[in-house]
Amino acid sequence: MSVDPDKMDSSSRGKLFDFHGVPMSHYFTDNWENVQNFQARPDDILIATYPKAGTTWVSNILDLLYFGQTSPERQTAIPIYARVPFLEIIVPSLDSGTDMANNLPTSPRLIKTHFPVQFVPKSFWEQNCRMVYVARNAKDNMVSYFHFDRMNMIQPEPGDWSSYFHRFMEGKMVFGSWYDHVNGWWKKKQTYSKLHYMFYEDLIEDTGREIDKLCSFLGLSCSVEEKERIRSGVQFDNMKKDSMANYSTLSVMDFKISPFMRKGKVGDWKNHFTVAQSEQFDEDYKEKMKDSHTSVPHRN
Ligand code: A3P
Repeated sequence: MSVDPDKMDSSSRGKLFDFHGVPMSHYFTDNWENVQNFQARPDDILIATYPKAGTTWVSNILDLLYFGQTSPERQTAIPIYARVPFLEIIVPSLDSGTDMANNLPTSPRLIKTHFPVQFVPKSFWEQNCRMVYVARNAKDNMVSYFHFDRMNMIQPEPGDWSSYFHRFMEGKMVFGSWYDHVNGWWKKKQTYSKLHYMFYEDLIEDTGREIDKLCSFLGLSCSVEEKERIRSGVQFDNMKKDSMANYSTLSVMDFKISPFMRKGKVGDWKNHFTVAQSEQFDEDYKEKMKDSHTSVPHRN
């Protein structure tokens, strides 16, 4: 299908289909061969998340940690999706994620993926690349994904909240089941030491502490002043008004429906879930996350 990104509408929306056992849409599978053959470099950093877990926030932090002092113009001139390319995306008439990553002039390259762990191209493992995984409370993640699917014209139609709620629990989302995603990456962390697993809620609780942990994982030193500059620069209200971070320059999203930087809060699920839905969800969650060896620490 040929899509002009300036003329995105409901007909351009992706459709879910089974891809190697994971629900996907063609915008993230059509470039599969190039993605799988992507040549990672040892200093590449892969930022991996289930969609809507805080990818952009962490991308911005890492970009500032690496380039905030040496190339401050990046932050004011280059949108975050060009500074940190989305590896698997392919939208006709725009450069593919692999082309964007291959053309990055800077090093290290920061690369984003929403792939479940088993889809990550093998060169990232062979090169022993550092990876940062961000997880978010499932209920908030679901709510955020719902609003994103409403406004993003390459995502499948979300339908109403009630049907979305069931579809999320069944794992019928682009990039598959939230449960499989967070558990798959958590399990990987047990054997792959270069994976830093972090949580959206922890970032909200203490951004500075999480920046410290990132620095220690990445082997970076960051002065108190620089850390404070980054911490304040990436606060929700600042990123929301930053056209280089808020995706407002991307025409596949309809901000009249919902902004990309929507609320940036913990617990917004309480404004969406009914009491019955919350109970049903908790019951199902316990069952799906019960494997004590691999289950991810819970964040409220
Ligand atoms: P909400 O929809 O709950 O507001 P991703 O970047 O993975 O697509 O995640 C987007 C979610 O992260 C959105 O959640 C967005 O508002 C939130 N987010 C982005 N930047 C943030 C920040 N600086 N502080 C808090 N939340 C942020």
